[in-house]
Amino acid sequence: MPDTITITDDRTGKTVTVPIEGGVFPASAIRELDPSLFVYDPAYLQTAACKSAITYLDGDNGILRYRGYPIEQLAEQSTYLEVAYLLLNGELPDSTQLAQWKSDVTSHTFIHENMRKRFVDGFHYNAHPMGMLVSALAALGTFYDDAKDTDDKASRDKQILRLIAKTPTLAAMCYRFSVGLPFVYPNNDLSFPANFLNMMWRVGDYNVDPRLERAMDVLFILHADHEQNCGTTAMRVVGSSHADPYSSAAAAASALYGPLHGGANEAVVHMLAEIGSLDNVPAFIEEVKSGTGGRLMGFGHRVYKNYDPRATIIKQTAYEVFEVTGKNPLLDIALKLEEVALSDSYFIDRKLYPNVDFYSGLIYQALGFPVAMFTVLFAIPRMAGWLAHWQELLGDKEQKISRPRQWYAGVEARDYVPLAAR
Ligand code: CMC
Repeated sequence: MPDTITITDDRTGKTVTVPIEGGVFPASAIRELDPSLFVYDPAYLQTAACKSAITYLDGDNGILRYRGYPIEQLAEQSTYLEVAYLLLNGELPDSTQLAQWKSDVTSHTFIHENMRKRFVDGFHYNAHPMGMLVSALAALGTFYDDAKDTDDKASRDKQILRLIAKTPTLAAMCYRFSVGLPFVYPNNDLSFPANFLNMMWRVGDYNVDPRLERAMDVLFILHADHEQNCGTTAMRVVGSSHADPYSSAAAAASALYGPLHGGANEAVVHMLAEIGSLDNVPAFIEEVKSGTGGRLMGFGHRVYKNYDPRATIIKQTAYEVFEVTGKNPLLDIALKLEEVALSDSYFIDRKLYPNVDFYSGLIYQALGFPVAMFTVLFAIPRMAGWLAHWQELLGDKEQKISRPRQWYAGVEARDYVPLAAR
C-alpha cells in the first residue's frame, strides 16, 4: 500500500499526489490544486499545525511521553526541574548539567520589588489569583529590555530561566495577596517544590513534609507538557508574531484559565461539592446525560479516548497525600462518580474517561490550596512546556506568523444606510 494520498479537484479534474508521513500529509497539496482553496477545520480537529519533537501522545492507547520517556517513569524517578531541562533541551541532563541548571533556576527566583509593591498591590482585594498571574506574567516582561530579543539565543535562554524560576514566586505572591498575608521571599536552600510550598504556607515556623514536597513535584511533572493543547497553541500563535515570551506566556496562561482547559480541576471540586453526597450521584449522572446538568467535569479529552495516563498516576498520588493530610471528604463522591460513569453506556460510547483534572483538585484541596489556586498550580509547571514549544517554534524554518483563513459567512456587499433612514 503506497504511503501517499491523491486528491482530485472535481471542478477542474486536477489531481495532486503527496506523501503521508506519520499519519499527516502536507496542506501544500491543497495549495497546489488551487491556491484559493482552503480546508474548513473548526477547532483544528484534523489539523497538525506544526512538527514537534517534544511530547508524544497516543490518545487511543493512553500513552504520554516527554522526549520519548514514558510519563510513568518520569513521575516515579525524576524531578520537575530535571523534566523541565529535558523538555527544553531534548535530553536528560548529566549530573554537572543538572547541578548547573538547578543553580541557575534557583538564582533567578526573586522578582523585582516593584512587582509586589506597586503592581500586585494594585489589585482588588478579592482578585482571582489566576487573573493576577496572567497579568503578572505579562507585566514581568516589562522589567527586561532584552525580552524582545527573540532572535538572540542567549537572550531566549535568559528569559526561559527567568520564567521557570519566577512563576512560582509570582503564583505564591498572588495567593498571599488574596488572603492578606505578607509575601514570603524565595528560600534558595530549598528544592523547587519545597520553595514554592514554603512561599505559600510559611507563617512562623514551617517545615515542608517531604512526602508532600514529592507529591507537589510529581504533580508538576505530570502537568509540564501536553503537546498542542489550547494553552500551548496560544503560546505558539502569539510567539509566532515574535512577541516577547512573557506576553506569549500570559496568553497561554489566559487560555489555561478557561474551565474547559486548566480551569476544569476547579470546576470538578465545585461539582463534587454541589453533588454533596453519594446518594445524589445517580441523579447527577442522569442530568449530565440528559444535558440538563452540564458536563461531568474532569471527564473526557480531545485526544485521550482510552484513559488519561496522568489520571492513573494522580489517583495514586492522591492516596499518598491523603495518608499525610487525611482523606478529602469529596473523594468518596469522586470514586462513586467514576464507578457509575465508567459503567454507563453514555460515557463508554463516547469514550469519556477521567482526565488529569478529575483527581488533581482533590489533592490540591487536601494540600490546603484554595480552589481559586488550582489553575495557578497547573500554570507553574506548564511554563516549561510552553517555553519548550516557544523555543521550538522560533527555531522552525517552516513556521511563519500564525494566520489562519476563514470561510466568510456574512452578508454580501451592501450600501451604507444613513442613521435617519434606518
Ligand atoms: N460530560 C458529559 N458529556 C461529555 C463530556 C463530559 N465531560 N465531554 C464530552 N461529552 C460528550 C459531548 O456532549 C459529546 O456528546 P454528543 O456526541 O452526544 O454531542 C461527545 O461527548 C463529544 O464531546 P466533544 O465536546 O465533541 O469533545 P471535545 O473533544 O470537543 O471536548 C473536552 C473535550 C475535554 C473539552 C470535553 O470532554 C469536556 O468538556 N470535558 C469536561 C471538561 C474537562 O474536564 N476538561 C479538562 C480537559 S483535560 C485537561 C487539559 O488538558 O486541559
